[in-house]
Amino acid sequence: MEEKITFTLNGMPRTVEVDPETMLVEVIRDVLDLTGTKVGCDNGTCGSCTVVMNGRAVKSCITPVRKAAGADVVTIEGLAKGMTLHPIQKSISESGAVQCGFCTPGIIMELYGLFEAKPTASQAEIETALNKHLCRCTGYEPIRDGALMAQKLMQDRK
Ligand code: FES
Ligand code: FES
Repeated sequence: MEEKITFTLNGMPRTVEVDPETMLVEVIRDVLDLTGTKVGCDNGTCGSCTVVMNGRAVKSCITPVRKAAGADVVTIEGLAKGMTLHPIQKSISESGAVQCGFCTPGIIMELYGLFEAKPTASQAEIETALNKHLCRCTGYEPIRDGALMAQKLMQDRK
């Protein structure tokens, strides 16, 4: 049965009327029309659907929307300020970590959750976070380099 569920999405209150067991990614993409969040495996394996909920990176393909009730959800669309990219977007793009780009929004949101919670995360912690993501194209090194570059940019900005 459908229920009204309200949460904050990229800083704006949103209310949807859906079955509470619907997965969050379906609500974000199909109900709220934000298609930057991708669906690869749809079973919690690839990380491409990652969004940040209450400051923590979650896989939205295995998160029922009922868990988002009252939560603060950020998707890739919430990071840039107008035409200015977030430092993580800028670094990941400049490090050559974007080829087909399918894995990129999920990886950026993973790093956003990590650096918001722990700006001084070690390289090992960054690599552990990135291990939750599959990328068919890059060989992973440019992604790790982009993550380290982003961390430095964010620290220099403070
Ligand atoms: S689409 Fe969610 S983890 Fe792959
Ligand atoms: S850039 Fe293609 S899957 Fe990662």
